[in-house]
Amino acid sequence: MTDLVVVGSGLFGLTVAERMADRGAKVLLLERRSRVGGNASSAVEPATGIEVHTYGSHLFHTSNERVWAYVNRFTAFTPYVHRVYSTHRGEVFPMPITLGTINQFFRSALGPAAARALLAEQAAELGGKTPANLDEQGVSLIGRPLYEAFIRGYTAKQWQTDPRDLPASVLARLPVRYTYDNRYFNDTHEGLPVDGYQPWLERMVDHPNIEVRLEVDFLDPTQPFHRDALVGQVPIVYTGPLDRYFDAAEGELSWRTLDFEQEVLPVGDFQGTSVMNYPDADVAYTRIHEFRHFHPERRHPDDATVIMREYSRFARPGDEPYYPVRTPADRRLLLAYRARAAGEQQVFFGGRLGTYQYLDMHMAIASALTMVDETVGPAVGGSH
Ligand code: FDA
Repeated sequence: MTDLVVVGSGLFGLTVAERMADRGAKVLLLERRSRVGGNASSAVEPATGIEVHTYGSHLFHTSNERVWAYVNRFTAFTPYVHRVYSTHRGEVFPMPITLGTINQFFRSALGPAAARALLAEQAAELGGKTPANLDEQGVSLIGRPLYEAFIRGYTAKQWQTDPRDLPASVLARLPVRYTYDNRYFNDTHEGLPVDGYQPWLERMVDHPNIEVRLEVDFLDPTQPFHRDALVGQVPIVYTGPLDRYFDAAEGELSWRTLDFEQEVLPVGDFQGTSVMNYPDADVAYTRIHEFRHFHPERRHPDDATVIMREYSRFARPGDEPYYPVRTPADRRLLLAYRARAAGEQQVFFGGRLGTYQYLDMHMAIASALTMVDETVGPAVGGSH
């Protein structure tokens, strides 16, 4: 007998399944893809033995002690610290914008106060006018020179839209550090799973109370674990796309997707770092990932490396949804779908697709733990 069906085996679904199984519930976990893990999953590239993050670089970081303690039950973490660089007009700069970036860019030796004053002066270009679009917003946050070098082209490529035609709200803030610290994340804990993402994710559901069914689409009416056969029969945690659950009856929520171009190169090191941004408009990709650099502690070949070029665009039907666009029209749709979701009997919507919001891994886990505590646990729990 099944006490709970979980649809989707990303970190949200895995956490719910594991916590509920630990409480004694019999869990059926359905996953459309051929392996568990959702977008955090990874695979070993066979020719080189290098672990590749299939859906783009995944860096684990959190300041949430409960989440940190929880994930450490399934994996240890390396001391990896993420740093990003950016190639602009043939020159490499540290990202995010730090005092190092500013002094390199302006060929200066400014201290923090002088750098702050320079950016404030450049940012005052609009003379107090409220920014009317993303371009003006960028200038008002960090001044035109740095905005045009590092943000404008990158944002245009991410959105495939001229920043003058994007709303100012897309760029709420642009972090600038007036120190030389170019550590990418500020969280208390950071690292990568010692033996890789996939073993970590698979260990989470290696439990006698969890049955995993791969290559099963909950929304495919031709298969037995279809929505219409299960809803109302058993509690369900659904982490697939919110609009698809309702057959897009209100319209489609819009997403950005990414295209990844993976290549094995016959060199021991291609770029000397894990992630290099390409903000210039004349380069089609936004970043290049080189996976060997995530694990300097591992033995990798001296004569081969794996890189992945990342391209960004609006998702079309059938594309993987990656980042919610959240236009005003999307927000209206979201409210309509939330109202529908509230009317579903014993169906709990969670995760980044089920709630139409970007979630880092630690946020997906935290939100799943809360759902188990507050709603799914009590709803299923009675007899356990
Ligand atoms: P996720 O998308 O992982 O899982 C949903 C699962 O549901 C998928 O496996 C899907 O196949 C399945 N599914 C959907 N519909 C279904 C259906 N009808 N039937 C059956 N199964 C179905 N986070 C971070 O902390 N650090 C990072 O560096 C990054 N980097 C990053 C890069 C990119 C490009 C993206 C898009 C995301 C990140 N993330 C990240 C975020 C991270 O990927 C995210 O936190 C998790 O994917 C969230 O887990 P979920 O379970 O919510 O969704």
